[in-house]
Order: sequence, then structure tokens, then C-alpha cells
Amino acid sequence: MSIYLDNAATSHPKPEGVVRAVTEALTEYNANPGRSGHPAALRAAREVLRTREGLARLLGARDALSVAFAFNCTDALNLAIKGSLCLGDHVIATRLEHNSVLRVLAELASRDRIALTLLDPRPDGFVDPEDVRSAITRRTSLIVCTHASNVTGAIQPVAAIGQVARQEGIRYLIDGAQALGGMPVDVEALHCDLYAFPGHKSLLGPQGTGGLFLRPGVVLCTLREGGTGSASDSMRQPPELPERYESGTLNLPGIAGLGAGVAHVSERLSQIMMHERELTSALLEGLSAIPGIMLYSPREEAARAGIVTFNVGDLPSSRAADLLAERGFAVRGGLHCAPGAHRFLGTLRRGAVRASVGHANTFEEIDRFVEAVRDLV
Ligand SMILES: Cc1ncc(COP(=O)(O)O)c(C=O)c1O
Repeated sequence: MSIYLDNAATSHPKPEGVVRAVTEALTEYNANPGRSGHPAALRAAREVLRTREGLARLLGARDALSVAFAFNCTDALNLAIKGSLCLGDHVIATRLEHNSVLRVLAELASRDRIALTLLDPRPDGFVDPEDVRSAITRRTSLIVCTHASNVTGAIQPVAAIGQVARQEGIRYLIDGAQALGGMPVDVEALHCDLYAFPGHKSLLGPQGTGGLFLRPGVVLCTLREGGTGSASDSMRQPPELPERYESGTLNLPGIAGLGAGVAHVSERLSQIMMHERELTSALLEGLSAIPGIMLYSPREEAARAGIVTFNVGDLPSSRAADLLAERGFAVRGGLHCAPGAHRFLGTLRRGAVRASVGHANTFEEIDRFVEAVRDLV
């Protein structure tokens, strides 16, 4: 496989423990968790709970049952947004959001179900919490913000926005797709009511995993009802967490793998964070020394996730990404499903090349990548 710098899309490689956990789930206790009472089903339920507990610890959540599993971050965001809104509500989000937020809100707005305000970031690429405050109306019932832009990597002032939301008594959802597992997250300090995350990016779990943290007391309308293995004599969806939001058979191999990913990350979060920061700095430094490279990511270390986005001369970004693929590097060109961020950067037509580092990348790989870009120029 080529040198992998597409970790913002999904992380690679997964730790050996993740592969082992998936295999074990499929071979040693491949039963339906929370349904039957035989030993394999009980072990399956225990492993699911273990993953939930690991996630809650990583999120700073007091109760493991406040984490509901989802199939990816998009799934969790759909539940958080659609489950929160009523006819006539007003929502504030930012133009930096991924389509997994923008399209959900645009769809509701296009059917006149909600009113929507999309805030531009300041020229430096960060949203101003005071702009959020100014946009609040009597009908505002939800504020949504990405924790870190998946295009520039800029970490948004999510705690300060949370303070505004808390002061105004408005529900607050953070899209943690580019944050959880790559930096410390504390849902208490962020003042968020809902925190959506994928399992397959920085948490190093398999694809098909993700989840949603719900602050105790936050109740969402369900998007899916069905069997939960509990209160089966009732026609109504049980109100208890997490079953309320987890109808149908869970993705046991995925959740077991995610549990191993969460354990791996939790044991070494600060090392991973430092390593990825240093790799990102090396990448930014290397690329900024090449004439003809346009860089879009923040220079300040503490202000960015492990993402470096750039363009090469006049090349369309997808062509540059293809040429880098031919040279053995996996990066992503185009719009990264975040058209608002590209509009802000002025790259809506050509997109940009995104190189995103992960726990297993080395400085040698970064040097080789920088040389390949220089060669391309
Ligand atoms: C900021 C952001 N939000 C949401 C998503 C959607 O994540 P998933 O692919 O797990 O649905 C992504 C995926 O890249 C993302 O970068």
C-alpha cells in the first residue's frame, strides 16, 4: 500500500489489537448482544458495554449509557439534528460544516421546516463565538459547530461557543469527526449537549462505527424504532438510554474493534497528539518552503488537527492528488464534502489537496511526501 496520508477520511493502519478484536468477535462470541442469555451473547453484551465505557471515559462523560452507537458520524449527526428539531425552529451552524451537517439542515430548510443561519468564519478561519450570540433569535433551538474543520484542520472555539449556548439555554451539538481520539475532549468543559463522532477515524476502529454522546436529560425524537431486546411487550420505543437510539442488531465486530481502538488511543493520547502535531508541523514547514505551493491550514500548532491542505501551482487538486497517487502517496483532492469551507478559502472550483497524518506516519514519510510535491511543482 502507498504511504497513507488520508487519515481524515478514515484512519490506516488500524492497530493489531483492533484486527484481533474484530476477528475474536466473529469467531469466538459471534452472538447478538443484549438479546439472549447464553454465554456467547453475554460476552457480546459485555464487550459492547466495555466499548461504551471506554468511549465515555475518553469523552469525559460520567455515564457510559449516555453514549449511543451509530454507524458513522453522519448517522449520529442525523439523529442529533433531526431528533432535536421541531417545525419552525431556527438553527445556527457554520459554513465550515461537513455535508453531513449542511445537507441535513439544508434539506429541512428547503421543506420550510426550519430557518437556518450559516455563519462565516472570521478571515483567520475560526468562528467568532460573538457572531453565534448575535445570530440567536427567539426561535433558535440548536447550535451546531464542527470541532475541527476537516478542510483546514482549524480547531474551532467550541468551548466558548458552548458557553454562549449554555447562557442562552440553547441545545448545542458538536461534530467531533476530526477531533475525538486526536486531542483531549471533555464534554463537560465544552458545555455541549450532543457530541457526534466516527469510530473509524482517530479512534482507530473499523468503518461502520460511530456514536453520539447525549447529556443526561437530553431527549431526541427517534429516527429508527424497532427491537431493542428490552421492554418487548410494549409497542412503544423504550425511553431508556442507549436502547432508545439503538434499534436492531448492533455492529458487534465493529464495536469490539472500536473498543480496542479506543483502548489503544486512551493509553497514549498525549503521545499520539504530540506525534501528529510534530508531523503536521514538519509537513507545513516542508511544503511552505516550496515555491508555488498555496497553503490553507493554520500555522499555529495548538490551533489545528493533523490536516494540511494545499494547492500545487495551477493544478486542479484532483489532478495533483492523482499524480501523487502515481508516486505512491494516498491523499485526497476535491472538496472533502465541505463546500462552505472551500467557498471561504476561494477554492470551490479547483478544490485542494488534503494530506492528513495519523498515529503510524513517520517523519521519513513526511520528507518523502514533501520531496514528491517539490518534484510535482
Ligand atoms: C467534519 C466531519 N464531519 C462528519 C464527517 C462524516 O463522518 P462519517 O464518514 O463517519 O459519516 C466527516 C467525514 O470525513 C467529517 O470530516
